[in-house]
Amino acid sequence: MTASSAELPPESQSVLGPLTRAAVFLVVRVDEGAEQIAKDLLADLPGLQRTVGFRALAGGLTCVAGVGAAAWDRIYGAPRPAELHELPVFSGDRHTSVTTGADLLFHLRADRTDLCFELETLIMDRLRGSVTVVDEVSGFRYFDARDVLGFVDGTENPTGGGAARAVLVDDDGPFDGGSYVVVQKYLHDMAAWNALGTEAQELVIGRRKLSDVELSDEEKPPDSHLALNVITDEDGNELDILRDNMPFGRPAYDEFGTYFIGYAKTPSVIERMLENMFVGAPPGNHDRILDFSTPLTGALFYVPTVDFLEDPPEIPASPPAEPEPPAPDGSSLGIGSLRRSSR
Ligand code: HEM
Repeated sequence: MTASSAELPPESQSVLGPLTRAAVFLVVRVDEGAEQIAKDLLADLPGLQRTVGFRALAGGLTCVAGVGAAAWDRIYGAPRPAELHELPVFSGDRHTSVTTGADLLFHLRADRTDLCFELETLIMDRLRGSVTVVDEVSGFRYFDARDVLGFVDGTENPTGGGAARAVLVDDDGPFDGGSYVVVQKYLHDMAAWNALGTEAQELVIGRRKLSDVELSDEEKPPDSHLALNVITDEDGNELDILRDNMPFGRPAYDEFGTYFIGYAKTPSVIERMLENMFVGAPPGNHDRILDFSTPLTGALFYVPTVDFLEDPPEIPASPPAEPEPPAPDGSSLGIGSLRRSSR
């Protein structure tokens, strides 16, 4: 390796990839004893993506893999990325989110469904018999990037450098360049939604339905989706996440859904949004979108860099202990050693 290549920052997975026409969301649990199989597959994933994607370069195939907290400990051991934990449950007066135990997320995106299908097939050929499938959803672009509620979804996503700053971890040592991702699979009550009429729907979302123009602050109700999801830090700076929601459904079974997926450099931003939506801000002022949308799943994952996946580094679990200063009386029982063992 040359000196200059050694200085390159680690390569992130394709979290910043554009909205595509097709996506697959695959969530699995790793069976007991199958950790090495999962680790080997994750290491080979960038290669598998090239294997399928290179045959149809214009299709823009990408695959992002995320690892849940419990699976991280089993597959990679300590230490864990600083903010990787199980997604909390958010419970308000009317609506409660769910957390579904999940170990691995595969977020496949392409402009062609067949590319997602082919790569998912290769992934499952390696994992079949070693994992339990929690969920598999195939999403599609609906006209001009609308959700099945009929609204354009994704408009206010950050772009360019702003997107990278919003989603890539930059203060966690060996985990820098990674990201956090939250997924939730929602089903909509379309009969109730359609009974609202367009103007009332616009007050639920906070934007015009046809033109996608944002309602003014005076028009936008405090329980609209936008009012509750525009959040700021203590200095008033807006906190962004990168969403790549996809519609899915089976009209014959009256199934109409939105697969929510949000990437962020810290899960605390997404968790604050979920708190606002489910508990309400102030509490009780919940997101009206939830009166028509029910989450069936929910999970949080850390997205390692490509370098980490391909060659997981050995990371010391904690800094090496300082050498013990000799006790003044020469005995070996220093206070310091008691302190350390009680940590
Ligand atoms: C904005 C739909 C769930 C966070 C929007 C917009 C729509 C939408 C139509 C307006 C256009 C845009 O900027 O994208 C939905 C649907 C959901 C859902 C159908 C599932 C039922 C969520 C969840 C979160 C979230 C769970 C966060 C945890 C946001 C944010 C914005 C947004 C941050 C942009 C706000 C702004 O800066 O204007 N969503 N969303 N959404 N949504 Fe959602």
